[in-house]
Amino acid sequence: MKAIVCTHFGTPEELEFVDIPEPQPGPGEVVVRIKAAALNFFDLLIIAGKYQNKPPFPFSPASEFAGVVENVGTGVTVFKPGDRVMGSTGWGAAREAIATAGDRLVKLPDDLDFERASGLTVTYATTLYGLRERGELKAGETLVVLGASGGVGLAAIELGKIIGARVIACASSDEKLAFARSHGADETVNYTTDNLRDALKRLGGARGIDVVYDPVGGDYAEPALRSLGWEGRYLVIGFAAGEIPKIPLNLVLLKSCDIRGVLWGGWTLRDPQGQRALMQEIVRWCAEGKLSAHVHAVYPLADTANALKAIADRKVMGKIVLQP
Ligand SMILES: NC(=O)c1ccc[n+]([C@@H]2O[C@H](COP(=O)([O-])OP(=O)(O)OC[C@H]3O[C@@H](n4cnc5c(N)ncnc54)[C@H](OP(=O)(O)O)[C@@H]3O)[C@@H](O)[C@H]2O)c1
Repeated sequence: MKAIVCTHFGTPEELEFVDIPEPQPGPGEVVVRIKAAALNFFDLLIIAGKYQNKPPFPFSPASEFAGVVENVGTGVTVFKPGDRVMGSTGWGAAREAIATAGDRLVKLPDDLDFERASGLTVTYATTLYGLRERGELKAGETLVVLGASGGVGLAAIELGKIIGARVIACASSDEKLAFARSHGADETVNYTTDNLRDALKRLGGARGIDVVYDPVGGDYAEPALRSLGWEGRYLVIGFAAGEIPKIPLNLVLLKSCDIRGVLWGGWTLRDPQGQRALMQEIVRWCAEGKLSAHVHAVYPLADTANALKAIADRKVMGKIVLQP
């Protein structure tokens, strides 16, 4: 079967499109024929050797996928050949089939297509865990989302609205902000043309912002933190801008506010049952049309390098999907 493999840390162009043996299921494992695999920003970091997870070579990027169960290993009772499923494995899905632990899979409702389902796990689960468990976001509170048209950013707009928050979407272009509004954002800020601090001060009013969701970092972090109100929560999601911000701690003291880390992958290892329950909510909301799981573009598997370059160039709104 065909696979994209990373044989050494480097750029998307250094990935190889090769033939590898078909996978066989071990005990408790399921082999899934992949119909769609979704990319995330962190795939760029994994292949560059800049991510917290460094898989042994050769490995395939793409941590999430949707497809059809082909066969199952001993001890697997929940899945059978022909079942439509989706899952997330950290890496390894940029290939035609994958063997993975059965407990990392979720069955798909009939009306959820493979392309949208493939990109549903990482972004929405990270964000629901982040906003609800770590951010304690409540109905009526104000949520600021940075990088709002990206994968996790879009999820934060949509889940923020389901929770009942007022959502302020921040992004680098008017096109991205129009996209954010069409997915539910109440207010928008273009942080390339507007001063982020002034805009959030105006939109936050006397009370200030309750929760900031930050997958970008860099120069936007400090002005966003300064916009928080009393006992506000700042959620550290990632650093797509490249630079890890350094925050003066007096700001945290003066607002009695919290800076809270969100490491979804670490949480799933500690609470797999919680993650399964969370995914059931996400799949149901998606089937009900409350979550878009918007797919920006579908690339053939052989064209994975260009798909990753589109993410690096900030050209993507929602998700990029690979089709084997
Ligand atoms: N903590 C967790 O558990 C967890 C889970 C999943 C992802 N993440 C992290 O969340 C971040 C976003 O992931 P994603 O998959 O949603 O990414 P994405 O779809 O590429 O979105 C990232 C957004 O960041 C903004 N950005 C600003 N500077 C950028 C730059 N130099 N290069 C690329 N984008 C830039 C872009 O929006 P503008 O152009 O509008 O600025 C872009 O839409 C990553 O750092 C990822 O590692 C964390």
